[in-house]
Amino acid sequence: MSQPILKLGQANPQILQFSDLHLSANEPLMGINCDESFASVKALASQYHHIDLTLLTGDLSQDHSEASYQKCREVFRNQNHPVAWITGNHDDLALQNEVLNIGAITTTKRILFKHWQLLLLNSQIVGEVCGEISEQELALIEQAGQDYPSHHLLIVMHHHPVLMNSQWIDNHRLINQSQLWQSIEKTSQVKGIIFGHVHQEVDVEKQGVRVLGVPSTSVQFSPSVDEFTIDEKQPGFRFLELLANGQIKTKVHRVADNKFNPVFDPVGY
Ligand SMILES: [Fe+2]
Repeated sequence: MSQPILKLGQANPQILQFSDLHLSANEPLMGINCDESFASVKALASQYHHIDLTLLTGDLSQDHSEASYQKCREVFRNQNHPVAWITGNHDDLALQNEVLNIGAITTTKRILFKHWQLLLLNSQIVGEVCGEISEQELALIEQAGQDYPSHHLLIVMHHHPVLMNSQWIDNHRLINQSQLWQSIEKTSQVKGIIFGHVHQEVDVEKQGVRVLGVPSTSVQFSPSVDEFTIDEKQPGFRFLELLANGQIKTKVHRVADNKFNPVFDPVGY
């Protein structure tokens, strides 16, 4: 299967990752106005003056409304660099394809830099909170490695590809994690996976691959707890620089001053 490829070509690309925006027509999420928290995170990211690519790693919408995607579109359509996105468990892929496909915003799922290739995978199971990557999508990993054997490979997905030791969120994991890791084992170019979904910072290594989770731009979830718990940490984003030697330089930034104070809702999110 051949996929369209966005060829950018920079040697050490600098990338922003925003995730789990949970935008809606006008509903707050657990006391957080997600428009305002996202605007604060986006403003914080403007400290980086040169960016080559922005990645939106799913759950862009909370309510599946067209209005939520339109808000997202208006923020990103005039960026001076490409903005690529994936779908999350809360998203409506058909609406995303329709609305998030203009100006700087691209629907392309494969991006090529000088030394790195990015592969954006769909882990959504429609109607479920947990995720799965189809066999066709898994095959793209090996295909990508064969097509550009000298490029390092970064996989971009919504669900967490490793267990978080947190029972409630692990119930919502990628259910075919082991198949994903088998595909990665066959593809030595894979150097990193970045994901959203867990609304917390993660930086671990598995099979020699850097595995990076990011705070949400909205509500944060507490790490290492078995029951759903929200965290008072502030919304944030991740900056990444992909180095020619296959290493990933990265930093998570969060909004300062406890500006956003969530209200616990036992129903979940
Ligand atoms: Fe989310």
